[in-house]
Amino acid sequence: MERPAWAPRSIDISVPSVSRIYDYYLGGSHNFEVDREAARRAMEFMPGLPKIMQANRAFMRRAVRYAVDQGVTQFLDVGSGIPTFGNVHEVAQAAAPGARVVYVDHDPVAVAHSQAVLEGNEDADVVAADLLKPQDILTSPQVERLLDLNRPVALLLVAILHFVEDADDPYTAVAQLSDALAPGSMLVLTHASYEGIPLPPERAGGAVDVYKDIRNPLIMRSRDEIARFFEGYDMVEPGLVPMPHWRPDTAPEDEDPYAFSGFAGVGRTA
Ligand SMILES: C[S@@+](CC[C@H](N)C(=O)[O-])C[C@H]1O[C@@H](n2cnc3c(N)ncnc32)[C@H](O)[C@@H]1O
Repeated sequence: MERPAWAPRSIDISVPSVSRIYDYYLGGSHNFEVDREAARRAMEFMPGLPKIMQANRAFMRRAVRYAVDQGVTQFLDVGSGIPTFGNVHEVAQAAAPGARVVYVDHDPVAVAHSQAVLEGNEDADVVAADLLKPQDILTSPQVERLLDLNRPVALLLVAILHFVEDADDPYTAVAQLSDALAPGSMLVLTHASYEGIPLPPERAGGAVDVYKDIRNPLIMRSRDEIARFFEGYDMVEPGLVPMPHWRPDTAPEDEDPYAFSGFAGVGRTA
């Protein structure tokens, strides 16, 4: 298989990756046939997946604009993925020139492409690190250079925590990151869930199996389990809700049942 310039030598391009599958759903061009094949298999069970991903991105942009409106102009986006369009730094810096953004991902393609996209942007950078090692993130030169941790930061954990199993204790990792942030900081989060999906479990379960096959299990948590990530935060209205229902710009399309397979919320510390 031909290796394009954006694919670092370190990656095995014969194995699908979560970030490249997601890139395909969003209509991006940083994916291989193995990724597209896995994505299409998942879509056989949940045809609405691309729409869900778009609802996730749309929520993320609304939440970034909300944060800026509330005076928060520093962003730590962990599990940021392969940049496509309407990325956090674009939305934040359009709303507040000079807004600072640090992206974090453990996927080499996501990191390499972020570096390329961010070249020349003095106020944004990317760190290759794992959410499960919060100290690596917090002590990275990029965070030290760009984020003032004495002022509020919006911590984004958008569509990442459902890739972290309970055995790896995602709650502790989130708490450690949150504890490092100044009062007035925000947690912006989305997470997949079976709760509310009007689909027979075997159909939704079939999509989940695709991720199990590629050794990146997708962990569907209940709404209560997702709410626990916000410990220490006050929920911003309207709380933890289906993604299209979080402060929509226009009335959400209630008729699309597939849009309800995950929850979105924003919390703020006092
Ligand atoms: C579905 S993408 C979400 C991208 C972006 N946040 C969004 O919502 O559009 C999930 C990303 O999380 C990254 N990821 C998964 N587990 C991670 C971990 N433990 N540490 C850092 N990144 C991780 C994956 O590499 C992938 O790029």
